[in-house]
Amino acid sequence: MEERSQSQSVSDDDVTRIIIDAKEQAYRETGHEPEPELTKAVDWPITCTVGPGLEGAIACETKIGYVNGSKGWLIYRGYDVFDLCAHSSFEETSYLLLHGHLPAADELSRFRRILLHRLFIPEAQRLLLSFPVETLNPMSALRLGTNLMRQKQTYRDRDEDDDRADALATDEDSIAMETPPAGTRRPVYEFFASLFGKAAAETPTELLHSDELESCYNLIAGVNTIAATIGRARQRRLPIEPLDDLGLAGNYLYMLTGKRPTALEARIMDVCLILHADHGMNASTFAAMVVASTLSDIYLAIGAGISALSGPLHGGANVEVVKMLSEIGSPGKAASWFKSAQKEKRKIMGFGHRVYKAYDPRARVLGPLAELLSKGDPDTENTFATARALEHEVLSTLGEEKKVFPNVDFYSGIVYQSLGIPKDLYTTVFAVSRVSGWCARVIEYLENNRIFRPRALYTGTFDEQYVPISER
Ligand code: ACO
Repeated sequence: MEERSQSQSVSDDDVTRIIIDAKEQAYRETGHEPEPELTKAVDWPITCTVGPGLEGAIACETKIGYVNGSKGWLIYRGYDVFDLCAHSSFEETSYLLLHGHLPAADELSRFRRILLHRLFIPEAQRLLLSFPVETLNPMSALRLGTNLMRQKQTYRDRDEDDDRADALATDEDSIAMETPPAGTRRPVYEFFASLFGKAAAETPTELLHSDELESCYNLIAGVNTIAATIGRARQRRLPIEPLDDLGLAGNYLYMLTGKRPTALEARIMDVCLILHADHGMNASTFAAMVVASTLSDIYLAIGAGISALSGPLHGGANVEVVKMLSEIGSPGKAASWFKSAQKEKRKIMGFGHRVYKAYDPRARVLGPLAELLSKGDPDTENTFATARALEHEVLSTLGEEKKVFPNVDFYSGIVYQSLGIPKDLYTTVFAVSRVSGWCARVIEYLENNRIFRPRALYTGTFDEQYVPISER
């Protein structure tokens, strides 16, 4: 790929091989026809069977992505996610989701430059760090961060004739900054005198007008920086500026940990971001679209997506998986642990899915990547072996009978743990990736916008007589 440096090590090829093997296995095990009722344009209005929670409801048409739950497919803009993981990058995949086609070389390099430049959001970081970020729930802090980006990057809240100065404006070109490990920089970092000065002229981050696509670029980069800044704050550390020779995935790890990731770590993080970038009409995507459909703006819509993702029924099961594997302790105990879990009718974390009734394609990739990363570290090797042993137990008992297979969350926690990401940040990592899908779907929906407005069935009473409070 043009995207990656030619000099990357054999390990990069190993990752590609793992993904191609996963794809070949998936293709051997599943059929090749898409579901006819879910893959065609229709004449609205349509009739469909709707269950509670809008299950089965068709909300709109889309060309962005398709999840085939019965066969275990995940498609972005016609491309199989396996192929994107093997050959693409998160930046290229984000471009694809947003623009509908793979970029030409010059389009991709410009897009990469734009995103790299927009990782610099010192004003939003500065505002964010004026709150007690380290004590906030990380997803709540992330949502706050997108509001602060909106405040700093758009003029939406400023009246035309309003010349009141921002209270922080006098001092917003610098921030206390932890020096990089090499220790060559000053501890107070002056953002706008940085190596990204040239790109600044080409791609302004501050939007005079509400250009949706420009806002999406700001958000795809900015959520990454905010998520890393939150991680730093929770370690009681100051932010670290991004590096111009790393992509978004590598920069996330670098800005979070302060250590330059190895090529293998950056590649695996990149694959994780590709895998989580879009997933049909899930709750957070729908939440973002509902907010956007009111003609609110994209920053607020993405904030809604972050809020929805924060719930334990949506993001976050991977944290529970890591806890569960530690509770089991070792591969030899998986069978007895599973037996008692079944007796107690416990749900096994990281298994089952509302849409997938087949092996989740994301888990097919993440499993072997977790294995690759675990090699050489006895603790993680043990965690991975325990996971494989539990998978064997669950599949032989619930697999064919109940269609319960590993989902994306089963192995992602082990991968994140190996990459040095603390457990409490896993859901924010999900958002760092999913912001691409949210943006793409919001932009697509706004092209033929109709405000979302379902109805509820009223099952209450009528003809109640108002009783004055003194008589109740
Ligand atoms: N462990 C044990 N049994 C399970 C599991 C599981 N993880 N998942 C489903 N089953 C069983 C159900 O108990 C049910 O059995 P029954 O027919 O005897 O009642 C049968 O399989 C069918 O499952 P449903 O309950 O219909 O699955 P549903 O679509 O309602 O739930 C869900 C999906 C919530 C994801 C569920 O599988 C679960 O709780 N999994 C564990 C949590 C988890 O991993 N969540 C992450 C999902 S991925 C994501 O959101 C990004």
